[in-house]
Amino acid sequence: MQATLPAVLYRDPAVFERERAGVFAAGWSFLGHDSEAAGAGDYIAGDVAGLPVLAVRGEDGALRGFHNVCRHRAGPLVTDQSGHCGGELTCKYHGWRYTLDGRLRSATGFGPDAGFDPRDFGLHPVRIETWRGFVFVNLDGDAGPLAELTAPLDGLFDRFGVVIGPTTLRRSHDLACNWKTYVENYLEGYHIDVVHPGLAAEVDTARYRVRMDGAVAVHEVPTLSGVNDGLWAWLWPNLAFNVYRYGLMVEHMKPVDHGRTRLDYLYFLDPETADMDAVLAASDTLTAEDRVICEAVQRNLDAGIYDQGVLSPRHETGVAWFQTRLAGAIA
Ligand code: FES
Ligand SMILES: [Fe+2]
Repeated sequence: MQATLPAVLYRDPAVFERERAGVFAAGWSFLGHDSEAAGAGDYIAGDVAGLPVLAVRGEDGALRGFHNVCRHRAGPLVTDQSGHCGGELTCKYHGWRYTLDGRLRSATGFGPDAGFDPRDFGLHPVRIETWRGFVFVNLDGDAGPLAELTAPLDGLFDRFGVVIGPTTLRRSHDLACNWKTYVENYLEGYHIDVVHPGLAAEVDTARYRVRMDGAVAVHEVPTLSGVNDGLWAWLWPNLAFNVYRYGLMVEHMKPVDHGRTRLDYLYFLDPETADMDAVLAASDTLTAEDRVICEAVQRNLDAGIYDQGVLSPRHETGVAWFQTRLAGAIA
């Protein structure tokens, strides 16, 4: 019998700081898709558990990662989620200008200072790798190759014939809960009968299983129509690929702080075949149902009476794996 993690791990700001280092800076974090930065000077920006980063395409076609932090007094280089910066990155505070490979080109208007050497003030680089066009960053530089993490996904994507077109839409939802509260909810189908009656009518929830393959949780559930038309695969620590008949939705479960989570959804839909209104309505319904239960659970984790429970060997193997991995990462 596996006990759940203590409730304090879901409400303590100090735990979140340990997770920033042990989980997020140490691992691979999703940033976006290649197609969002196709040409020289195009960029994608985001954050890793609140730490701002960007990836920008150089004149040589290479995508390079940097902290989105100016070396002068910490201004941001870009402020949009994606866009085009021209031939250089210009700080939004006092206008220092950096080349697309991160060197300080001009400390605009700085004035003479004998001790100042611009070569000492290049942008802080961030390690970057891509898998099937998906861009990931690793802040501490010590993670194993991204391909090792994503290897179990290759077979799944091939088997389901997943075609990844350009992104068509980004949407986000803000939840008042710890990121782990939401991730763990994603990692089991146990709650579907109670929380998602609409979905429960379409799938055989009694045979819903979550199987771990490396750091990937694969959801397997027969549909009641007998047609296996979906793939739900989660990747440590906070990313999911939701594959449907009409395309793919990438779900990034981002911690904002210890008590807030932002769900960033990236849709890769074929506008020829997808009924966008129906797709988004179905997605919104599921998210709204999960939000209500996750926020209620969080209030109870915060209340102090509940400390630890137990995990079902039939339904919560994914949650068990996640909690074991999490505990090791912040030990
Ligand atoms: S903080 Fe970037 S130019 Fe001053
Ligand atoms: Fe759910």
